[in-house]
Amino acid sequence: MTSKDNAQGALIDSLNGLLADTFALYIKTKNFHWHVKGPQFRDLHLLFDEHATEIFALTDLVAERVRKQGGTTLTSPDAISAKTRIKPQDATGLDAMAMVKELHADNLAYIERLREVKEAAGEAGDNATDGIVDDWTDQAEQRAWFLREIMA
Ligand SMILES: [Fe+2]
Repeated sequence: MTSKDNAQGALIDSLNGLLADTFALYIKTKNFHWHVKGPQFRDLHLLFDEHATEIFALTDLVAERVRKQGGTTLTSPDAISAKTRIKPQDATGLDAMAMVKELHADNLAYIERLREVKEAAGEAGDNATDGIVDDWTDQAEQRAWFLREIMA
């Protein structure tokens, strides 16, 4: 195996980790959209839905970057839970601010994952991934910003 193959293998792993995080963050954001309650219900219900829609749109883009690199990608919920770093949240009675706080931390973790993908893309010479990750990062930073300002 050449070092180029190694770098490409590492990039594929990294993209699959990002894909797992994307699905996990999507379902958690939807979960909070469905279960949020309290005086800010309308605002948060709508914001979480906007965020979920944006996150879901990334899943296909990330998976297809893997295929374009010649790799295979995730196939099932089990594959997602094996690779994601986003912790599940099965409590349905969380306080609205606890939901905001948790999604803020998860989006920051997601930004870190994107940073790793960008580094792996650079090492593998995958210019397309390297470039598109900047857009995905800007989107995640926007989500983190909105969530942070709600907590202020
Ligand atoms: Fe809905």
